Amino acid sequence: MVTAPAQTAPVPVVVRVLLDPEWAQTGLVREVRAGLEAVPRRLTPQWLYDERGSELFDRITRLPEYYPTRREREILERHAGDIAVASRATALVELGSGSSEKTRLLLDAFTARGALRWFVPVDVSESTLRRAAADVAAAYPGLAVEAVVADFTAHLDQLPHHGRRLVAFLGGTIGNFAPAARAEFLRAVAHGLEPGEGLLLGTDLVKSADRLIAAYDDSEGITEEFIRNALVVIDRELGATFDPAAFTYVPFWDAREQRMDLRLRSTRRQHVRVPGADLEFDLADGEELHVEISTKFMVDGVRAELDAAGFDVAEVFTDEAGDFALTLAARRA
Ligand code: TRP
Repeated sequence: MVTAPAQTAPVPVVVRVLLDPEWAQTGLVREVRAGLEAVPRRLTPQWLYDERGSELFDRITRLPEYYPTRREREILERHAGDIAVASRATALVELGSGSSEKTRLLLDAFTARGALRWFVPVDVSESTLRRAAADVAAAYPGLAVEAVVADFTAHLDQLPHHGRRLVAFLGGTIGNFAPAARAEFLRAVAHGLEPGEGLLLGTDLVKSADRLIAAYDDSEGITEEFIRNALVVIDRELGATFDPAAFTYVPFWDAREQRMDLRLRSTRRQHVRVPGADLEFDLADGEELHVEISTKFMVDGVRAELDAAGFDVAEVFTDEAGDFALTLAARRA
């Protein structure tokens, strides 16, 4: 049989679904209930990323005050080649890949060296993932794309075993985990890798409170709308009766915990029903809902946490201004 040259043959995208949609829904409802019954009350950040939320987040990444996206891109533009050389990876696994936009910089550098054979984007959103996977497959002929629909906090032990893997976790998302969850997550990544396989971790760094607050309380109010959207989504999805207009956005720098803390404060006493989560409670005037945290790191702290999780740090790359870090580490033998 005559076969077409590999370069022109369409490479099919394989999509594996590890996330059971029904389980994802019940799990999410359980989390909402636990969060809203906790003291202080918490909203589950997964509710931030519906269609509108994803669009608002996209606008956040382009705000003049929101530096992390640009800084991380600057580091990748300068050092993607170094990362390809040092990691010697033949498979790039991206956790929470979204639109895989910044990933292109890594894919370009890795394919230029000729060693990369697999791209494994992992995301909870199947539609986003399918679109991104198809785009990458079309742009990088010869690269096998295996997309995985999964919760990257739950399915790390089921990542495909292809070649020598580098797991990329970009955007500073690790900073959105509380300390214990962060340690557990890093240990789980290490556990899912073979000795010598790599992790590329993006972390935002500690800087002046003024700049941090500006990044999460922009003058156009996009971040505020993004955070407030969590209430809109819960009202719609679970029939909740939050009045999103009766909350003020409260972003502040928590110097002790070294993190931005993003909250919503009720401006009046309100009785809230959440039928979809079988829940009913009173919010006091001035009571706060904890929505999101964004931890800022010191380079030595990142090293120590990776070391504790079972990684050897190979290299730390920062942007010229020292705002953001990309740390390349290898799973210890
Ligand atoms: N991980 C990024 C950060 O902490 C993006 C992000 C997550 C974010 N949740 C957010 C940005 C809420 C603004 C508001 O910066």
